[in-house]
Amino acid sequence: MIQFTVLTLFPEMFAPLQESILKRAQEAGLVQIRLVNFRDYATSKHKNVDDVPYGGGAGMLLKPEPIFAAIRDLSHPIGKRRVILLSPQGQVFCQKKAKEWSTEEELVFICGHYEGFDERIRELADEEVSLGDYVLTGGEPAAMVMIDAVARLIPGVLGEDASSEEDSHSTSFLEYPQFTRPADFEGRQVPDILLSGHHAMIKRWRRKESLRRTFLRRPDLIEAVTFEADDYPLLEELVLDHPNIALWRAKWEHLCPQPKRRRRSSNKALVKVSVKKSEDL
Ligand code: ADE
Repeated sequence: MIQFTVLTLFPEMFAPLQESILKRAQEAGLVQIRLVNFRDYATSKHKNVDDVPYGGGAGMLLKPEPIFAAIRDLSHPIGKRRVILLSPQGQVFCQKKAKEWSTEEELVFICGHYEGFDERIRELADEEVSLGDYVLTGGEPAAMVMIDAVARLIPGVLGEDASSEEDSHSTSFLEYPQFTRPADFEGRQVPDILLSGHHAMIKRWRRKESLRRTFLRRPDLIEAVTFEADDYPLLEELVLDHPNIALWRAKWEHLCPQPKRRRRSSNKALVKVSVKKSEDL
């Protein structure tokens, strides 16, 4: 069971998490999502959560007191929870981060909305994370995306036979193209190999297409990948199709199958033959 706690001024925005797979995961007790409106922790008469910036400037800033009070009221103690501040200034979220977070007992997301944070709020967070290099109206959509990405990694959430292991990004390569029936859709054919029933050839085709996709769509991922010995012929075939792929050859040329070394005895025989030849001369 993983608990997601979201500190937000707009808990109604999280309605999409009550649908589909995450709905079932919550009903099955695999995931718990707690929405905390930190306005409830404001102590002023008007329940203010923001104020003008010292030094002047446009906009309002979230005040520290309500968010500090909400964090102090969390169910898991420090060490058993991870507090994440959502902001476009944070590290960009990725699959590796989702995997790392999926072993935590409680993930706490602090969402701002419209305005910035009083700087002292940052000290509450174990990390500051951004959904991507763009500015949202608030942290809520980012929190929803991150909760979704983490929850599907919890065993049982995707169902018994489904696995998140082969997804794009969990193996560093993009996923290969997939097809279902019909084999011919308005003249668009499913590749013959997938209809062949030849499992080894299908596996080889999938790996090659997965490598191809990664090179063509996300060359930035190639720097960080490690190729396997069996990839060598696939990569050389891909170079024939897309000569630019050769730019990365340094990453796999060490996998080139070496010609088998001759045994000593046969070397001796070779020497003998050559000696004999020179005698003949
Ligand atoms: N709040 C506003 N923009 C954001 C972003 N890109 N990621 C996370 N939180 C945000």
